[in-house]
Amino acid sequence: MSEAVIEVENLSKTYPDGTSAVKGISFTVRKGEIFGFLGPNGAGKTTSMRILGTLHHATGGSARILGLDVNTQGKEIRERIGFAMQEVGMDDLATAQEMLTLHAKLYGMNSKEAKAKAAELLSTFDLASDAKRRVVRFSGGMQRRLDLAVSLVHTPEVLFLDEPSTGLDPKSRSDLWRVLRKLRDEEGITILMSTHYMDEADALCDRIAIMNKGVIAAIDTPTNLKRSIGADRVRVTLSDGISAKQWAALQKTFRAGNVSQADGHIDIRVKDGASALVPALRILDDLGVQVRETKVLTPTLEDVFLQYTGASFADAEVKPADPKEKVRLSRKEKKAAKEAASSAKPSVEFSEVVA
Ligand SMILES: Nc1ncnc2c1ncn2[C@@H]1O[C@H](COP(=O)(O)OP(=O)(O)OP(=O)(O)O)[C@@H](O)[C@H]1O
Ligand SMILES: [Mg+2]
Repeated sequence: MSEAVIEVENLSKTYPDGTSAVKGISFTVRKGEIFGFLGPNGAGKTTSMRILGTLHHATGGSARILGLDVNTQGKEIRERIGFAMQEVGMDDLATAQEMLTLHAKLYGMNSKEAKAKAAELLSTFDLASDAKRRVVRFSGGMQRRLDLAVSLVHTPEVLFLDEPSTGLDPKSRSDLWRVLRKLRDEEGITILMSTHYMDEADALCDRIAIMNKGVIAAIDTPTNLKRSIGADRVRVTLSDGISAKQWAALQKTFRAGNVSQADGHIDIRVKDGASALVPALRILDDLGVQVRETKVLTPTLEDVFLQYTGASFADAEVKPADPKEKVRLSRKEKKAAKEAASSAKPSVEFSEVVA
């Protein structure tokens, strides 16, 4: 395992006004990882990053960056990290080239070195043709890229990026991802970033800490986080309704807890949606259930986020199946269903049942 670059132990921050922004978070980031803070507004992402970037003092716990203590070795840390903040602070009158050259000189480079560094970064960030334009005329995406370039002037080993892609269009976003991956893969730079975008966290981050109300609710790789909240689902939209007899048989075959129905569709929880789809359809066919449409639903980071933070997304496409959702049967129907369940046994055995 590669070396630990960011080590955080029970870190907390209460602002002077009494706001408890970070309440004891612990995690480790290893060299060459892209580590993401994913969380809603006010979760404590910026506060945590500011502490790790030595811009704020923690009020509890400890943190080490590259083995250096954030509380006592701020200066040494600042020389070896780069920081691109949420609110972009740019000198509007300067050109991109001037800005980069100035920063390079601030880090002790002579004019020639500074110019060379500026040229290199302008080219990395696709800004070479805009080098002589005033930053004030830059689009949001160009400013973001320049901001990132500035944070890389002194070739940092660790990069802190607070919401690097907020306000970028899809093309600029994927360009940014490409650059960040390149920094990780080719320069071995360790990146700690925050984001509101779940697709970004999923696509870009090696590991994610889901933050909510000052604590880390979950921490793992995107894949493991998605796995942790449960199974895939086969969603079957019905042409007509489903009889009590058919429903009872379905419950028996898939186990009652694994099937639910709502809004004209049935959800079947399965281990692996792709391999369960065809056998599940065969069973439905066997039972004479008329199917209009099928799809496989795999847990997304949105589901993970919802589960761990309780935050709701109005546009959340997939909602967790509601266990309370049941068909209501009269006593007569129940009896019929019971009988039906014992007689209606599909010829195909279903082996994809979730335990
Ligand atoms: N300087 C400050 N003084 C007092 N409270 C603050 C200060 N900065 C942030 N807070 C509070 O601390 C909490 C965490 O804020 P923080 O900015 O760290 O959240 P965040 O996760 O970055 O949110 P966002 O996604 O909106 O950027 C919030 O309740 C915020 O109001
Ligand atoms: Mg923030």
